[in-house]
Amino acid sequence: MKKMMLIAMAVACAVVLSGAALAEEPSADLIKQGEQLFNAKEGLGVKFACIMCHKGQKAIKKSEVEKLGDKLPDTINDYIVKKSKGTAIAKDSDQMKALVAYIVNAHSI
Ligand code: HEC
Repeated sequence: MKKMMLIAMAVACAVVLSGAALAEEPSADLIKQGEQLFNAKEGLGVKFACIMCHKGQKAIKKSEVEKLGDKLPDTINDYIVKKSKGTAIAKDSDQMKALVAYIVNAHSI
């Protein structure tokens, strides 16, 4: 009986822990959405898509992303305005979450 309790507790812990890990990992859908925003002008309503300048070796540097940390959304907005010639987007918008997820998880080198 005691053994059953232990197993049940271990399972409960595993479920809670995997839930926490999932909350931190952005979904594949969100990353994909970010990729689309990054690669095309239409989603963000900009004149120049990010990918025009950030292709291959010019992909955003992982070390820069880490240095920026919480300021990444502000920096993204700076580049939307200055380089892509668009309008800044809300920092808590789905678009910003998607761009951040894409840059952090898939686009930085
Ligand atoms: C016209 C070219 C151009 C466009 C378009 C552009 N960027 Fe950049 N971006 C740059 C340059 C140049 C830098 C500075 C990189 C460097 O110094 O190596 C930069 C830097 C950055 C950085 C800071 C990290 C770093 O490496 O310094 C981020 C984040 C970034 N861009 C995101 C974006 C996003 C998101 C878009 C699209 C909304 C975008 N950029 C569009 C040229 C551009």
